Amino acid sequence: MTVPPLSSTPEATTNTAMELKPAPVAQLTGPAAERSGTVTQAPDPIAPESTPESTPESTLEPPAEPIARPRRLRRSATLRRMVAETVLTAQDLIYPVFVMEGTGRVEPIPSMPGCDRRSLDQLLEKLQMVRGVGIRAIALFPVIPPAQKDAIGSESHNPNGLVPRAVKAIKAAFPDLLVFTDVALDPYTTHGHDGIVDEAGQILNDETVAVLTQQALAQAAAGADFVAPSDMMDGRVGAIRQALDAAGFWQTGILAYSAKYASAYYGPFRDALDSAPQFGDKKTYQMDPANRREALKEALLDLAEGADVLMVKPALAYLDIIWQLKAQTQLPVAAYNVSGEYAMVKAAAEQGWIDERAIVLETLLGMKRAGADWILTYHAVDAARWLRKQPVV
Ligand code: PBG
Repeated sequence: MTVPPLSSTPEATTNTAMELKPAPVAQLTGPAAERSGTVTQAPDPIAPESTPESTPESTLEPPAEPIARPRRLRRSATLRRMVAETVLTAQDLIYPVFVMEGTGRVEPIPSMPGCDRRSLDQLLEKLQMVRGVGIRAIALFPVIPPAQKDAIGSESHNPNGLVPRAVKAIKAAFPDLLVFTDVALDPYTTHGHDGIVDEAGQILNDETVAVLTQQALAQAAAGADFVAPSDMMDGRVGAIRQALDAAGFWQTGILAYSAKYASAYYGPFRDALDSAPQFGDKKTYQMDPANRREALKEALLDLAEGADVLMVKPALAYLDIIWQLKAQTQLPVAAYNVSGEYAMVKAAAEQGWIDERAIVLETLLGMKRAGADWILTYHAVDAARWLRKQPVV
């Protein structure tokens, strides 16, 4: 059999084809053998040109220059770890949890298997376990009883409301657990919108911001480490920052949902909170999935208004947005791996159609690789456990 010479001329492409149809083992020597992986020694770039030709078994000419071999860095698990560009750890994860009134209550959320709504006493028990697996941050979402909802979300800034009470209890029990609170009116309004609605059904911006500011103050006063406005009203980050500073809460951070899209992926979350909009949709305040430059515009406004961290939500269909914010700003970027993304993985895993552990770790790693410093995810507890058990090779 004649083997084409290795060279950097156009014929070199035939070598690639040849690799796909390897020659019989007996003929593999010299560079051909190296390509097949049977010889591990690196080619010697300064070897005399005649060496391969002088061996009777081979008709190969030496390469004009060594061919690129990216596979060299993938040879062993140790090497792969040493060249890994991204590492996922439990410290990157923020675990969203749902709190409700009462005692001794735990209600599973059917569309989010493994997640539940809990009264505060039961939530504290769960958080003991959450800390135990190495998670250091939670995002708190309230389930508000229908009797406490009204058109303007008054309960949202009650200093003795469910969220402030929960924050106080959590920080008292676990002072080192970071608590992020959601700033938006949807759990508190009868209509399920994130803001105040006028007679024509329009969401009023500035009137809403005034209420959100009160909500953020109540959360900060209770001891929240970060307030996280998820409402998408214009100017809310600046208004909240000013109000927090004026009240002495200069240490309370703002995690801004900067690029929050009007997404179908929030469905299971709205089931969990009973907060689906009762009319219309959220497209006049949440972003259009078609837009990327607009996400940068929103992020730069939030940055200028005093946001500490920028968030992209959802995550999986918006990895380009995560990367863009990471590349074009200096702030840490968070990604929200939302309820619908979680539900799809859980449903397929329950059918036995995918390997849940591998899929979850690959997905979260992909979000980090795209530029996310933090990931809010309902998979956090499982992921943290799996990351602990990963063999160190
Ligand atoms: C409320 C809020 C929503 C989510 C987080 N905060 C729902 C919405 O905007 O309709 C969704 C989270 C998820 O789907 O996991 N402003």
